[in-house]
Amino acid sequence: MPVHAGSQAVPIYGNYHGYYSKRPFIRDPRLALLPTEFFVGKRVLDVGCNEGWVTCEIGQFRGAQQVIGVDIDDTLIRAAWKRRRTVWSLQSPESGDINEERCPPPKRQRLLGDASTTDNNTHNYFPASCEHSYGPLPIPGRGCGAFPRNVTFRTVDWVKDEIPEDYDQYDIVLGFSVSKWIHLNNKDEGLKEFFYRVHQCLKMGGVFVLEPQPWDTYSKARRMSETLKENAKYLQLRPDGFGELLEELGFSHGQRLGVTGKGGFRRPVDLYLKQR
Ligand SMILES: C[S@@+](CC[C@H](N)C(=O)[O-])C[C@H]1O[C@@H](n2cnc3c(N)ncnc32)[C@H](O)[C@@H]1O
Repeated sequence: MPVHAGSQAVPIYGNYHGYYSKRPFIRDPRLALLPTEFFVGKRVLDVGCNEGWVTCEIGQFRGAQQVIGVDIDDTLIRAAWKRRRTVWSLQSPESGDINEERCPPPKRQRLLGDASTTDNNTHNYFPASCEHSYGPLPIPGRGCGAFPRNVTFRTVDWVKDEIPEDYDQYDIVLGFSVSKWIHLNNKDEGLKEFFYRVHQCLKMGGVFVLEPQPWDTYSKARRMSETLKENAKYLQLRPDGFGELLEELGFSHGQRLGVTGKGGFRRPVDLYLKQR
């Protein structure tokens, strides 16, 4: 069942607030392992999107047709919508993204006049201080499919519940740092169900990009609650065996794209192709 504001003091789903202040980035290093054109024109699902930083980067800079970020925690999804507005407000007119289509600058941005003639490399075209003073820039009308219109968010326990976007299937599903939380909360059966759902929701030839947390990080996480501690006793599957499980479902042998992150965030990123 989705987590609603104030109802979950201990982040037992990995639903950390302020996650990206612990794991800050300008361009996400996990996405950087994927070729530049990887997301162009694709429908993407980001499972466990937290505050939507990765989701927004894919929508803004990677040319995705549509990116849907889902998270079990309603407060995080609200923060993700806010992030989308902020990122849009700070976007330079020539931000170097590879969206073919660009939303026209909203009226208020045009009214800021000379700002469009400033250094195109300036990261904060509409500085954060302006958002504080005047609020975010308005988002252009529905007809536009480019960023930020190509990014949406939904609160859902995606292991248990479907969303309407699932029916059209995705080209790419991302599972970054979420498998441990699904595993600990739903045991082996729940993790298998998650992988099954990913397979079902992907088009043939679609890809699953998984960043599994290593087994040695489970021991700290399970101490968060009695339920997780109890669930952990029954776990037979191990992250090193996830590839085998995915192959049984019809995915290719996993391709290790690399290992990123520092300290406790040092994790592999693997790619699986749906081939049957
Ligand atoms: C550790 S964070 C990772 C955030 C992001 N994917 C990243 O790596 O930058 C894990 C996220 O998964 C979410 N989550 C856990 N179980 C989920 C589920 N069953 N359905 C949707 N989201 C889930 C949590 O709320 C949390 O925001």
